[in-house]
Amino acid sequence: SERTLVLVKPDGVSRGLVGEVLSRIERKGLKLVALELRAVDRSVAEQHYAEHAERPFFGDLLDFITSGPVVAAVVEGERAVAAFRQLAGGTDPVEKATPGTIRGDFGLEVQYNLVHGSDSPESAEREIKIWFSEL
Ligand code: GTP
Ligand code: MG
Repeated sequence: SERTLVLVKPDGVSRGLVGEVLSRIERKGLKLVALELRAVDRSVAEQHYAEHAERPFFGDLLDFITSGPVVAAVVEGERAVAAFRQLAGGTDPVEKATPGTIRGDFGLEVQYNLVHGSDSPESAEREIKIWFSEL
């Protein structure tokens, strides 16, 4: 099977949607293998979103992701990367995510889209090293 890195972003934590997200992961049949509520260092955020360093919204994205605690999780299962991306829905919660997905059901603005999920198995392994160096 495969692993993916999931974050409930600060908006999801502050809105009380942690249980909702974890419940959907579990009901899908995916397995939680690591789980932690934590503050996010700017250096961790920069490493995590390194691919977006040249984007105009990079500064806002770092400010947002470090604005409060996140829940970080390692999720495992058959095709876990694609399976969680399916649960999350598209990046824009209105234009891309459909109802029935986490972003489609609970999101309004692209930056405040509640969750992160790795976009490939290679990204997942890179991100798991950043967030859970012990795994
Ligand atoms: P992640 O799972 O968080 O990586 O989302 P994603 O893979 O669906 O989207 P992507 O990696 O392209 O963008 C990373 C994050 O940057 C998004 O989830 C949004 O929170 C934020 N983001 C993306 N595009 C924009 C934008 O145009 N404006 C702003 N303010 N934020 C954006
Ligand atoms: Mg991404």
